[in-house]
Amino acid sequence: MKLEISGPEKSNIHDCEQILRALPEYFGIEEAIVQYLEDIKTRSTFHAYIDQQLVGFLSTTRHTLSSAEIHVMGVLPQEHGKGIGSTLVKMAELYLKNNGVKLFEVKTLGESHPDMNYAKTRRFYLSQGFLPLEEIQDFWGKGLPTLFMVKPLL
Ligand SMILES: CC(C)(COP(=O)(O)OP(=O)(O)OC[C@H]1O[C@@H](n2cnc3c(N)ncnc32)[C@H](O)[C@@H]1OP(=O)(O)O)[C@@H](O)C(=O)NCCC(=O)NCCS
Repeated sequence: MKLEISGPEKSNIHDCEQILRALPEYFGIEEAIVQYLEDIKTRSTFHAYIDQQLVGFLSTTRHTLSSAEIHVMGVLPQEHGKGIGSTLVKMAELYLKNNGVKLFEVKTLGESHPDMNYAKTRRFYLSQGFLPLEEIQDFWGKGLPTLFMVKPLL
């Protein structure tokens, strides 16, 4: 498998849409997909390709001189567990660190929500060195606890 990562660059919206739509257990709300696609148009995005086919992407938000966030990321389900997500995180961190970022954030569904899929997402972020900061109820709306995770980029 020859994995190629490109970015940061403007996103290929059409291909990113295919990835979000291939993950309905995670991105099942139509308005949220539309909003993500709108958002990533203006964000620095990293793309992962195997044989020139897009298999994953990670889009970042720069909040301040010292902080940035994973706005959204996804890998095609059939390619999970092959190191693509972690490579995307690594490349984004490298770029952000070189540009002065010291704190990398990600928000995800908190563990007080029973969804098993997002339990895997939290394990992935933990494995990448993100630390749970706090869980806030109703940040994304009622019944959607939000876990804020942060990673110092040392
Ligand atoms: C989360 C996601 C991006 C991870 O991408 P991936 O390519 O599958 O991850 P990797 O193969 O790089 O995994 C890296 C490490 O994370 C952990 N990990 C990944 N998936 C895991 C899972 N399902 N359960 C437990 N740990 C997991 C493992 O420790 C793995 O390390 P290993 O090499 O020891 O197995 C991908 O699974 C995905 O697209 N999920 C659905 C969408 C999503 O949750 N997006 C984030 C919210 S915006």
